[in-house]
Amino acid sequence: MAEYLTKLFIDGSWQDAISGETFAVINPADGSELVRIADANAEDMLKAIDSAQKAQAGWAATPALERSRILRKAAEIARADIDRLAHVLTMEQGKPLAQALGEITYGLDFIEWFAEEARRTYGTTVPSTGPDKRIVAIKQATGVSVAITPWNFPALQILRKLGAALAAGCAMIVKPAALTPLSALEIGKYFAEAGLPDGVLQVVTSSRASRVSEAIMSDSRVRVVSFTGSTEVGKVLMREGSTTMKRLALELGGHAPFIVFEDADLDHALEQLISVKMRNMGQTCVSANRIFVQRSIAEEFTRRVVERLSSMKVGFGTESDVEVGPLINAGAVDKVESHVADAIANGATVAAGGKRPSGAALANGHFYEPTVLTGVTDEMIIARDETFGPVAPIFEFDTEEEVIERANNSPFGLAAYFFTRDVNRLVRVSEALEYGTVGANDGSISAVQAPFGGVKESGIGREGGHWGMDDYMDIKYISLAGLTRP
Ligand code: SIN
Repeated sequence: MAEYLTKLFIDGSWQDAISGETFAVINPADGSELVRIADANAEDMLKAIDSAQKAQAGWAATPALERSRILRKAAEIARADIDRLAHVLTMEQGKPLAQALGEITYGLDFIEWFAEEARRTYGTTVPSTGPDKRIVAIKQATGVSVAITPWNFPALQILRKLGAALAAGCAMIVKPAALTPLSALEIGKYFAEAGLPDGVLQVVTSSRASRVSEAIMSDSRVRVVSFTGSTEVGKVLMREGSTTMKRLALELGGHAPFIVFEDADLDHALEQLISVKMRNMGQTCVSANRIFVQRSIAEEFTRRVVERLSSMKVGFGTESDVEVGPLINAGAVDKVESHVADAIANGATVAAGGKRPSGAALANGHFYEPTVLTGVTDEMIIARDETFGPVAPIFEFDTEEEVIERANNSPFGLAAYFFTRDVNRLVRVSEALEYGTVGANDGSISAVQAPFGGVKESGIGREGGHWGMDDYMDIKYISLAGLTRP
């Protein structure tokens, strides 16, 4: 049985909530209580903001090389403990251990990437308007930052925000999802062990976001809020953040089209589809939600998808041969069921799965079988809303023009994928898709060095690459005048 951290990490020490309240963290695979942890409210959050504000100037003034060293050290400590952390992550979130390991490895890559970027936050000297003047633009840390992170990637979403913020010289408060707070506390511990000064990172767990978000959003000392989650909540944060003009970095909902043209390499398209659809049981913002297949190959491609998804083992993520774990909670399974039921009622056919698995072993967990739906149309709920589950709805199309119009017909614009062997089409479709991230013959778009993010209602800002630092740095223009020559 793993030991879990249970207290808030504020000002470099582990503390109970001021109220003394706790909340339960549940294992989604069997509904059991893993542990009870501190349940913060607004007073705890204010304490964290006070402490972050106190630490901010010192951290911003710490030489970039030293910030970089601490980031690398934290990543090294976490890597040495990765099997234990992966176990904690699987217990609280459900995903298979191999995926938990992959998530943490990818997240730590962000810490190392930003450790390097910290050393390269260059300014610029621009030709000036006169011989006695110089124009200089420098980058400075924006200030106290807050990361509000989701339950689908309990480690990754913290590490990619934290790496960028700390590298830029910003103190950060992490408010993890109430469903998956345990990995966040472990991350706090790694950074403390790496020598991060007190107050530069704080982890504040709370069962009710509304209790602490008011304290975050109304406090003018908080300059950046980086949020990954639903578009609905992102809009609320935008409204609330406007009163103190906070910078918001928002990675919100998606409804990714996955287009397979008749000239595609079908083996490759299938591999990529399975990996992007089934990663985290379909609970990702970049999951393939609308699988458009050109009519002439639809039957053959569907047959292959059915064969692959039907052979995937569903079960506890801690078992080594399991590929599909539980969904996060009962509400998630209900949503998947309602999307499938609506599709069937409106004429779709279940070609695989379509139900909860039977048997006593999985009865207390939130499981749903990998599912393929055919005959899906744009009028069904599944064509409009994110399902966030292991369901592959197959839509047929005839022409490139038609499928681009249908793919773009969404308020979301996070990720899109398409597969073709035609070089001209590769360029044409890449440019025509109204999405922040496009996988052209690629379903594996996640990369630390790339600018990940959405357009339209999928968000604002980019995470990763050198762009990832921009949300945490201000550009200051200095006009130097009155210079004289000897
Ligand atoms: C997600 O945000 O759902 C996926 C993020 C990633 O793969 O980088």
